Amino acid sequence: MDIILFGPPGAGKGTQGALLAERHGMRRLSTGDLLRDALNAGTPLGREARRYMDAGELVPDDVILGMVRDTMEDEAHGVIFDGFPRTTEQARGLGGLLADLGRTLSGVAVLSVPDEALVRRLSGRLWCSQCGAVYNVHSNPPAAPGVCDVCGGELVQRPDDREETVRRRLEVYRAQTEPVLDYYEGDGTVVHRIDGDRPVERVLADLESVLHA
Ligand code: AP5
Repeated sequence: MDIILFGPPGAGKGTQGALLAERHGMRRLSTGDLLRDALNAGTPLGREARRYMDAGELVPDDVILGMVRDTMEDEAHGVIFDGFPRTTEQARGLGGLLADLGRTLSGVAVLSVPDEALVRRLSGRLWCSQCGAVYNVHSNPPAAPGVCDVCGGELVQRPDDREETVRRRLEVYRAQTEPVLDYYEGDGTVVHRIDGDRPVERVLADLESVLHA
């Protein structure tokens, strides 16, 4: 079963995707994480992606589709797509890729959260520079300030979580990514709308109902 976890920046896609993957033996495929890995490794792809990411803009479709195709070739598990597709061109590309691999998309789950809550969440997000664990100074703080509970690594803010960049990411989401939902509704794919502005466990329960549907 392959599903898309959809929603604006900060809606909780990464948080929920990680929990679903762990509990249901699925793979979470986050294009944001793949890009950050390339960026940290200093690859040509990472260097190209950085200028888009730091500005809150989307990385070009051909780069994203090539990267996803490479990582899907030998995939044996159900996949949770997190932060992909983000344009209708990417949605068409994903359709072709899944068809080539003999896989089918089971549905799209959309997390909705008001913009001001998103800005607050992202400006309070901290991320472990060593193991990637995610915290929030408002809703999920670490036991000791600035230190990861899991591995003791240093907690840092993502460069694109500065407020002005977050607001640009939200504009880009409304203009370029939200129309992807019309694309899926138009082709008959099931789109589940979930209130993401609730405690993590309640959102997770709704997502698990979608998986079982
Ligand atoms: P990406 O890394 O995908 O970022 P995003 O989609 O903007 O999403 P985020 O990671 O910011 O948020 P999230 O929804 O995962 O929320 P999280 O669970 O962390 O992309 C970054 C950039 O890469 C893009 O801007 C673009 O440049 C590029 N890119 C990536 N994919 C691309 C693509 N396909 N095409 C083109 N370009 C692409 O939660 C956020 C915070 O809230 C955390 O602190 C968390 O603890 C907290 N939180 C989570 N759930 C709750 C809750 N229920 N209540 C309270 N707090 C909560």
